[in-house]
Amino acid sequence: MEKEKFIIQGLGKEKSLSGKIKISGSKNAVLPVMAASVLFEDGIKMTNVPLIKDLDRIKEIYEGLGIKMDKLSNDSYFINTKKVRSGEMDEKASKMMRASIIFAGPILARFGELVFPHPGGCVIGARPIDLFLEGFEKMGATWEHKNEKYYIKVKGKKLKGANIFFKKLISVTATETFIMAGVLAEGKTVLSNVAMEPEIISLIDYLNKCGAKIKGAGTPVLEIKGGDLLKSNGFVYENIPDRIETGSFLILGALCASDLEICNCDPFHLEVLIETLKDSGVNIELGKNYIKVNNKNKENYKTFDIKTHEYPGFPTDLQSPILIYLTQVNGESLVFETIFEGRLNYVDDLIKMGADIKLWDALRATVKGKTYLKGRELDGPDIRTGFAFVIAALVAENESIINNIYYIDRGYENIENRLQAIGANIERVIN
Ligand code: UD1
Repeated sequence: MEKEKFIIQGLGKEKSLSGKIKISGSKNAVLPVMAASVLFEDGIKMTNVPLIKDLDRIKEIYEGLGIKMDKLSNDSYFINTKKVRSGEMDEKASKMMRASIIFAGPILARFGELVFPHPGGCVIGARPIDLFLEGFEKMGATWEHKNEKYYIKVKGKKLKGANIFFKKLISVTATETFIMAGVLAEGKTVLSNVAMEPEIISLIDYLNKCGAKIKGAGTPVLEIKGGDLLKSNGFVYENIPDRIETGSFLILGALCASDLEICNCDPFHLEVLIETLKDSGVNIELGKNYIKVNNKNKENYKTFDIKTHEYPGFPTDLQSPILIYLTQVNGESLVFETIFEGRLNYVDDLIKMGADIKLWDALRATVKGKTYLKGRELDGPDIRTGFAFVIAALVAENESIINNIYYIDRGYENIENRLQAIGANIERVIN
């Protein structure tokens, strides 16, 4: 892992960011489409691909599967799948990125067998894969776990359509995996209690353009008619803007910007955050693909409680940035994390910065504001909290050092240059 860190000079009471910030393509939308390339006879051209470290992991997985990834421009690629083959998922890449599990669906659907290690990624909870294993069994696969790897095989090499009801909980990547598995399975697959995130709708829309038959996008029940390999026929996958990045900059703007325009975004994907911040008193102006925000009313912001929820509820990926917002608002609020049991672990660091937070249990924290944060040395524990620490460091007084920025680079493109452009004093230093 690269030993790089950010050194950030906090804005303290000045709080004077201004200008325009452009949103990158969505990490969570492009990764499943990259996995879906395994379903294609020819390949996929994709644009608005973010330049993030997770792409290096995808390349490593592709190499093991015989897929070529040609860069066409700064943000566009052609994924050539003409020589795709089954194989073992690259161990290092799978252990560094939880989303690697999404490859299991298309690989099993196309080749009927697969070997992979338990996927890794951010340490934000136990992150089991039981939904995946149960679902594959329903579609006719058997699996065993030995030598720390999963060996999955499908009788007759062809998955069978099945009714899969996600009883335990709603999972984004499990929904995506079984959409892709269903596309090449024999017969009909019905998925119930699925996730409805915009990234999933974007995946379904593209697969349908290329020959898939998936009904119900954006609803809790999906019906997939299995068929032949897909063909892109010149259709380009145009990646959607990253709503989590958009939301993080919106929160930063509400706290620290005299005038910020967030461009190339889709405000419709962030309704819950925008409504929450507007009710709190933040000045927000919305356009079709931009959001303008400033902190002029910051002395009068009101508190609110947050409970994370599957889309269209409040995203768990914005839980840490919104908690930092709440440290800057007069009054008390409750933050209730309902998706990942390890996602409030970072609050100790904020307390050390001067925040007044009480952790009742792993899932609930009360935040008392307003507190003045003081810069300090922080270890970014995961992608989202890593970026939340950048926000905390900018809000704070004095200097902060953020270590482990590999995690931030995993999900955010060129973050320091974009922040410098709006006036932030942030520098990348190689140890
Ligand atoms: C995706 C997002 C991530 C976001 C999360 C929730 C991607 C690449 N990542 O992650 O940014 O934070 O959705 O919005 O899109 N679970 C099980 N068994 C399983 C699978 C999941 O118990 O087999 C649990 C998880 O531990 C978690 C919950 O289900 O508690 C939801 O997780 P899930 O929606 O699967 O998150 P990811 O898809 O990993």
